[in-house]
This record gives sequence, C-alpha cells and structure tokens, in this order.
Amino acid sequence: MAPQVWLITGTTSGFGAEFVKKLLAKGHKVIATARNTSKIAHFKEAGASILALDLFSEQVTFDKVAADAVAIHGHVDVVVNNAGYSHFGIIEDDSREDWIKQYQTHVFGTFGVARAFLPHFRARKAGTFVFIGSTAAWGGIPTLGAYCGSKSALRGAVETLNLETKPLGIRNLLVEPGFFRTELLNDNNVTYVDTKFEDYKPVTEPLFTTFKKYHQQQPGDPAKGVQRIIDTVLGENDAAGKEFPVSLALGSDAVEQIRKKCEETLKLLDEWEAVSSNTNYD
Ligand SMILES: NC(=O)c1ccc[n+]([C@@H]2O[C@H](COP(=O)([O-])OP(=O)(O)OC[C@H]3O[C@@H](n4cnc5c(N)ncnc54)[C@H](OP(=O)(O)O)[C@@H]3O)[C@@H](O)[C@H]2O)c1
Repeated sequence: MAPQVWLITGTTSGFGAEFVKKLLAKGHKVIATARNTSKIAHFKEAGASILALDLFSEQVTFDKVAADAVAIHGHVDVVVNNAGYSHFGIIEDDSREDWIKQYQTHVFGTFGVARAFLPHFRARKAGTFVFIGSTAAWGGIPTLGAYCGSKSALRGAVETLNLETKPLGIRNLLVEPGFFRTELLNDNNVTYVDTKFEDYKPVTEPLFTTFKKYHQQQPGDPAKGVQRIIDTVLGENDAAGKEFPVSLALGSDAVEQIRKKCEETLKLLDEWEAVSSNTNYD
C-alpha cells in the first residue's frame, strides 16, 4: 500500500498518540494535531507534521487547519476525528454548559473538522473519515448522560454523512470502542460533578469510585485497537477482502455490549409490536 496522508485530532495521548506512532512506523505521512502543540513536539522530531487544533474553535479556524493540512503534502487521504473527554454527572446536577462542552467536543467540533475537509474530499472523489465514537452510544450509563448523548448524536450524524457522501467516493468509519487503557479516565482529564441531592448518592458514590479505580485497569490495549482501525482503513490483515464497514465495534466488551443491546431491542420490538403498530390512517 502506497503511503497515505493521515490527519489525527487529539494526539497527546491514548488512541491519537498510538495512531501517530504506528503510522509513522509504517512509513505513512502523518499530520498530528493537538490543542497544545508543545505536548506533541516529540512527534515532529519523529517525522510528523504538527498543527494546532482545538475542537472549541469556529468553522473558519477548522477551514484554515484543513487548508494548512492539505498544503503540507498536497492532499490528505484520511482524517481521524479522535479527540474527546468524559464528563461525569447526574443529569439533574449537570449544567447546560457541561452538556455544551461535551457536544462541542464530540459533535459540533468533530463535524466542524469533517465539514472543513469535505470540499477537498469531494474534489478528489476520495477520502476517508474515521470517527471515534463509543459503545456509550448503545445505552445509558448513570452519570454519563452528556457523554452517552453526545456519542449517540455522533452515531446518527456519521450514518447520515455516510449516506450523503458514499456516492461521492468518500468513506466513513465510526469506531465504537469498549474500555481501553488510555488517559480517558485520568483524573486530570475527567470532570466529575458531585451530586447536590441525597437521592442520587447511592448511584454516584460507588460509580465515581469504580471509574476512578478503573483508570489503567481497562481491558483494551490501545496499540492493538489502533492497529485494527488502521487495518480496516487500509483493508489489510483480518480486514483484507472485506467490504468497508460504516461502523466497527472495537474490543470484545464492545462486541458483547452492542450484541446484547441489539438482542434486547429485537425482543422489545417483538413484545410490543401490537402496541407499536397499526397507527397508520385506514
Ligand atoms: N479509552 C476508552 O476506553 C474509550 C472508549 C470509548 C471511546 N473512547 C474515545 O476515544 C477517543 C480518544 O480518547 P482516549 O481514550 O485516547 O483518551 P485520552 O488518552 O484522554 O485522549 C484524548 C485526546 O483528546 C484530546 N482532546 C480533548 N479535548 C480536546 C479538544 N477540545 N480539542 C482538541 N483535543 C482535545 C486530548 O488532548 P489534551 O491533552 O489537550 O487534553 C487527548 O489528546 C475519545 O473520543 C473517547 O471518547 C475512548
């Protein structure tokens, strides 16, 4: 496979950093981005190009980043929309601001980046978007309403983008990981809202303790996970010969959770079909 040009958001740690390392090692051209580029200066020494990109930006900034990225190698083949963070809080405790920040990161900013590269991809009739979603889109998790909601919004929007752009030669891949050992649950990166209400304490206290202890105990190895994503994009190894998918569960916990949700949903549809149906005009 000829070297491809990849742009990745959120490369200071976790999946994003793994993408940069693996792609450079395979001889690809990498444009690593971060909101604070001093944190990724080492990737420049390793051969990557570096651009500043904060998902809390206006469209004009995303457009400028896309233009600067295209200028580096003359084109971009793959854009990995990876950056994200977790906000923990009971919905009644959360502020509108808390939710806007999660949606700005996982939806508005992410799609701002996608929108910025769409003219380039349409002109080339080629290009691949990778979006890092979450199994959180497949069911609620108490105290993660803003995270689950924003990742669910991402799911619906990526499926729509795929219907709109697949006929134009553009590929879209929504990756939905289970739990991976990144910096996502690092106390420095997470926001926790302590509940004001006694009623919710039996939920928040054990859950916050569990999630804090789970940092660096998650089953998923980000190096293996990222390799699977790269294989899928390039059609290599276990992904060779398969039709490019619109979504990919990542991790055995993700496969199990999504399968369980699908089975429960089918059961619910069957049980309630008589109530759900027969609502059309005679
Ligand atoms: N790890 C898991 O178990 C898991 C499971 C499901 C989904 N995910 C998703 O995987 C993606 C990557 O997360 P990770 O697990 O690799 O966690 P991570 O190690 O904490 O990496 C998150 C990256 O996102 C960046 N970021 C956060 N907000 C940003 C913003 N406004 N603008 C630009 N960059 C920003 C962070 O940069 P700073 O250093 O500047 O904060 C960091 O580089 C996220 O979308 C996450 O929701 C992870």
